[in-house]
Amino acid sequence: MQKQKDKKILRKQSMKKKFLTVLLSVLLVSGFTNRSSRENPEEIISVRVDSVLSLMTLEEKIGQLNQLSYGSGWGPSIKVQVPDQYKKMIREGKIGSFLNATGAELTYELQKIAVTESRLKIPLLFGLDVIHGFRTTFPVPLAEASSWEPELVERSSKYQALEASSAGIHWTFAPMVDIARDPRWGRIVEGSGEDTYLGLTMAAARVRGFQGNLSDDNIIACAKHFAAYGGAEGGRDYNTVDIPERTLRDVYLPPFKSALDAGAETFMASFNEIDGVPSSGNRLLLTEILRNEWGFKGFVVSDWNSIGEMINHGFASDLKDAASISINAGLDMDMESRSFIANLAELVKEKKVSEETIDLSVKRILRIKFKFGLFDKPFKYCNKERETKNIMSQEVQNAALEVAKRSIVLLKNSNSLLPLKKDLSKIAVIGPLADSKQDPLGPWAAVGNPNDVVTIVEGIKKLVTPKTEVLFSKGCDIEDTSTDNFDDAVKTATESDVVILCIGERENMTGEANNRSTLDLPGVQQKLAEEIYKTGKPVVVILMNGRPLSIEWIDRNMSAIVEAWFLGIKSGDAIAEVLFGDYNPSGKLPVSFPRTVGQIPIYYNHKNTGRPGNERNRFTSKYLDLPLTPLYPFGFGLSYTNFEYSDLKLSSPEISDEQELAVSVNIKNTGNFDGEEVVQLYVQDLVGSVTRPVKELKRFKKIFLKKDEEQEVSFKISEKDLRFTGHEMTSISESGEFKVYVGTNSADVMESRFKLVKTISSSLK
Ligand code: BGC
Repeated sequence: MQKQKDKKILRKQSMKKKFLTVLLSVLLVSGFTNRSSRENPEEIISVRVDSVLSLMTLEEKIGQLNQLSYGSGWGPSIKVQVPDQYKKMIREGKIGSFLNATGAELTYELQKIAVTESRLKIPLLFGLDVIHGFRTTFPVPLAEASSWEPELVERSSKYQALEASSAGIHWTFAPMVDIARDPRWGRIVEGSGEDTYLGLTMAAARVRGFQGNLSDDNIIACAKHFAAYGGAEGGRDYNTVDIPERTLRDVYLPPFKSALDAGAETFMASFNEIDGVPSSGNRLLLTEILRNEWGFKGFVVSDWNSIGEMINHGFASDLKDAASISINAGLDMDMESRSFIANLAELVKEKKVSEETIDLSVKRILRIKFKFGLFDKPFKYCNKERETKNIMSQEVQNAALEVAKRSIVLLKNSNSLLPLKKDLSKIAVIGPLADSKQDPLGPWAAVGNPNDVVTIVEGIKKLVTPKTEVLFSKGCDIEDTSTDNFDDAVKTATESDVVILCIGERENMTGEANNRSTLDLPGVQQKLAEEIYKTGKPVVVILMNGRPLSIEWIDRNMSAIVEAWFLGIKSGDAIAEVLFGDYNPSGKLPVSFPRTVGQIPIYYNHKNTGRPGNERNRFTSKYLDLPLTPLYPFGFGLSYTNFEYSDLKLSSPEISDEQELAVSVNIKNTGNFDGEEVVQLYVQDLVGSVTRPVKELKRFKKIFLKKDEEQEVSFKISEKDLRFTGHEMTSISESGEFKVYVGTNSADVMESRFKLVKTISSSLK
């Protein structure tokens, strides 16, 4: 009896204590708000977070760490009839976030349950893969990187955020900032290619575009996949990554750090292991580097079931073990493995996970919910009118066209075949991608709709004069084995003045799990190209693909080649503008094109080796049956005009670690068109305490020059740009000699030299 009474009193006391805590925190919050809200919003958020946390049961805390996919499969769902099982879980506070629930209506329904029917009324966070657009599909990220225009990419992400936020989305699982040196890997299409500096520049641009200042129309960014996911052996997705920590730090991590510095509030752990440790249980990555070294304040979400997959990795014995490893390593939110929700309470009881560890993760998630304004305005993105107004608005579509044409790379243009005249009498548009509505969307196109796509045939028809006949013949399907329709294609080509041959890959030959063991044109497309070539007609090849392809024969034989990647809904318009010269192409490759698959890995910033490749010397690093060079080097891309580089100048032959070096060069437009050029600056550290790459991109600038115009372009670099990871795994630079290269691509450059003379040890700074 007495015991029961005591218990009652204790319960009352504890309720009173809780009530007082809330009251106190509310008072504190308002006091704080009045005093210093403008000075330190993070502190106010922290007080608010603590006040909510103090009210939560352990089960409710664990619920915040649980993310489920809405609907049956993966991919966006708008089904408004919320299944009972979700209703119950939301009411009980067992879900912190959904992915794949989209639309103002559905997100409203779900949010309403959370903020009116759950005990603590904590709002839900809605996430989705907005990789290159929500409904208005923009070019795939690899294509956007080909623009070498961070401001353009930022604008693209901003419009993508505007559309997604209008459909209830708070959070995108983007940017994907994985460096990819192996084009067999299907996910190369989602990133910015092979280079760390271009990659880190694009990473920051995308974060700025998505997140803005986290106010209305913005969505939260997520830098993924942390880390080195693109280093998969053999380019096979999900495969083991075996790279040394120095390569990890110098090549793969900088784009993540750059995303963080640009404000990325969330990170996603990758599927792969590095050096025996899967990322979802990797304390070095998730805690030591990300939080302790870099000071990350946001939260880390797992990849889809990546916690559960640690069992297959042979790193966890069962889901419970996996949950314990992950949360203790620093992972905060569980995407779809359901291991946290099923096991964390018991793990706390067993003292294998401390409640403080759980509190930390909950705080990080609540912090974002507060910072993003969800506690104050949980329905801010559930507005049907706003949804109708913003999705597929003319403004967003115009932006999609602008980005698309600036993402195109001209690879070949013999005898200035391009631009074409608009009044040709007959144009043959041939190939399986010429009139495809689906493929230009590319992989990961969210709710992109093939009916919105302008095909190449349609784009060309819009631009030519009324008297021009545009003939279309498919020739074959992308992966056809049959040549039955070749005759029609050849006949169509023979009747025409010029052939536009549209070949490449199906949109889902890249993207997750879509790896290839060859880079050849799929099916009988190569044969189709050979048949068309025999007609003797001038041929412009349009490539649509999500990775570099090995197209040596095409390069040798066809007059013009346009790399169009997957350009999104305005694909046909953008390509036509380039074909007919309404837009002079200005893109550059963000990745080297190998001659054959056997040349992989072939990336421009490789090491020199002790026996650098030399075609005249047998005992050097090379293949017997291939030239040393790729087909097209990193940074390569032509224009309809020509640019002449001259007068490379350095401000000084020597800099100290406190000084800047100015590097300038003169560029003249010597051709017949106005045009844009991406001026690229590379550096080589000639001798290091560890070996250094033969060249590394450090700066670039896209400039516009009218015909005959010239301009001096100058760049500044300093000691910071010359750092690398030394023996102690810290970032250092060393006194010594450097080469600086400036040019139109990574292979075609002018060069000079300078010295870094250090006075202060940079590792002490
Ligand atoms: C992918 C992630 C993606 C997630 C959610 C996973 O399979 O690896 O990049 O964000 O699914 O759709």
